[in-house]
Amino acid sequence: MANVTFSSPLHKDKTVYAVAGSHKKTILELAKENHIPIDFSCGDGECGTCLVKVFPVDRKRKMAHPLTEREVKVLKDLGKITQAQVDQMIVDDLMPTEWRLACQMVVRDEDIVVEYPSR
Ligand code: FES
Repeated sequence: MANVTFSSPLHKDKTVYAVAGSHKKTILELAKENHIPIDFSCGDGECGTCLVKVFPVDRKRKMAHPLTEREVKVLKDLGKITQAQVDQMIVDDLMPTEWRLACQMVVRDEDIVVEYPSR
């Protein structure tokens, strides 16, 4: 169970509740269900259109939520992450950057904030 707050300078913040056990739902799917207008195109981790920033409600805490392989490739292509950050992620299993792809990141049992559009 998690509260996911979608935040954008263009829209009012909206907090939605992600149901327990739905650990297959991506941020993009949750956004669509709740009429949150996050841009997307491929929906498959290839184009980078759904780029968002994700952080825990307590921003000082690090999230244990590594990037998917597709996210690593796209975020590197976009210049949002370095190889050193990827190497560190493999060592400590922590999320190395706030940049994520909404169509790839699955919501877990953690209260988070999703900032969009973020570029
Ligand atoms: S919609 Fe293309 S990477 Fe997410």
